[in-house]
Amino acid sequence: MLAEKNILIGVTGGIAAYKIVEVASRLKKSGANVRVMMTKNATEFVSPRTFQEITGNAVSVEMFGDAANFHVAHISLADFADAILIAPATANFLAKMAHGICDDLLTTTVLACDKKILVSPSMNTKMFDNPATQANLEILKSRGVKILEPATGNLACGTSGKGRLPEPIEICAELEKIFDSGTLAGKKILVTAGGTVEAIDPVRYIGNRSSGRMGCEIAKSAAEAGAEVTLIAGKIEVEPPKNVTVIRVESAIKMREEILKIFDSVDAVIMSAAVADFRVKNPAAQKIKKSDETLTLELVKNPDILRELGTLKKNQILVGFAAETQNILDYATKKLVEKNLNFIVANDVTAEGAGFSVPTNIASIIWRDGNVENFPKMKKSELAEKIIERVANLLDEKKFFPVNDV
Ligand code: PMT
Repeated sequence: MLAEKNILIGVTGGIAAYKIVEVASRLKKSGANVRVMMTKNATEFVSPRTFQEITGNAVSVEMFGDAANFHVAHISLADFADAILIAPATANFLAKMAHGICDDLLTTTVLACDKKILVSPSMNTKMFDNPATQANLEILKSRGVKILEPATGNLACGTSGKGRLPEPIEICAELEKIFDSGTLAGKKILVTAGGTVEAIDPVRYIGNRSSGRMGCEIAKSAAEAGAEVTLIAGKIEVEPPKNVTVIRVESAIKMREEILKIFDSVDAVIMSAAVADFRVKNPAAQKIKKSDETLTLELVKNPDILRELGTLKKNQILVGFAAETQNILDYATKKLVEKNLNFIVANDVTAEGAGFSVPTNIASIIWRDGNVENFPKMKKSELAEKIIERVANLLDEKKFFPVNDV
């Protein structure tokens, strides 16, 4: 996978820099075109000449001067790279990268680069665990930078704990994964999240307890698997993931409208949104005054969006959720069949650690052939991965159910 790839390695000033000589050698042997940049501190641990001999390319250290044949070095190096590997990455480097500081060739090149970046931190355990370092890692992750967790073991400072640079073979394997385009590469996935908001008057609405956590995790997981993701979100309490197209809606009617606009062009729909079954028939144009002791609202049924998609679907995979409080399997199975879904994710929204708002869920996936997969309590991010894995398998195997088989 790395053959013909242009790999730029950034070496920063840690004792583990010596291991990167083997990384460079392995990458070169696998057919990659390797260039190395070093911070000045890194040259205290390994000589640039070592990397030059291994890679057959000049090593860049200085911002001004030593990048032979490279015009405006930081831009040229950033353009050259299909991917950048920073290893070992010191706490100082992580802090600079997270905050866009560019005071040497390596940090400037990284800031000028829009390619995939893998960072392999290595440092003393306390430095790694320090909230400042952890916060910097979170910032980098949120921007799509891949982080290779350090290994645990004896450290150069004489202590033992998390902070060791992983072995060269593991670093190379992780770098390979960067070029793996993912199980949903080339696929378009539509995910819905959050609760719909049904107006009573300009200031009041009927809503529900959905936070959007489940749907946002699914969208994130689909994007990480390489899909082009559209997230149609009602009222949500969490930040939607990066790298997905977000369409914000309020009412069920508006959600339906936005879904139908793109339904024909997507490969799969995952409806995790809590769509209101009813809306107020005639929302008041002005704020309702509390003149009487009682207030009666007339509600009318909202369209069942998923059921409609079940009748319209051609080759799309359709996944629904069932938010239940009793007879979970029976009610969910009924929805699975009536809405013509490929599978349904049933959750008991009254169980502790499941359903609305909480970061975990307890769910069962019910299939058309009656097969049921029961999952223990897990993070919504983990459940999202399981759902995406199954959607990818269905798309891969093209196990489509007959059209309009309800
Ligand atoms: O957002 P969180 O706080 O993380 O909470 C997650 C969740 C509890 C909202 C989620 O796990 C969940 O169960 N979502 C589905 C909620 C729901 O509306 O369930 P339902 O059983 O009423 O509907 C069945 C399916 O039909 C759902 O996929 C729903 O999106 C869809 N539906 C429902 C009504 C309607 N008018 N149109 C629809 O498309």
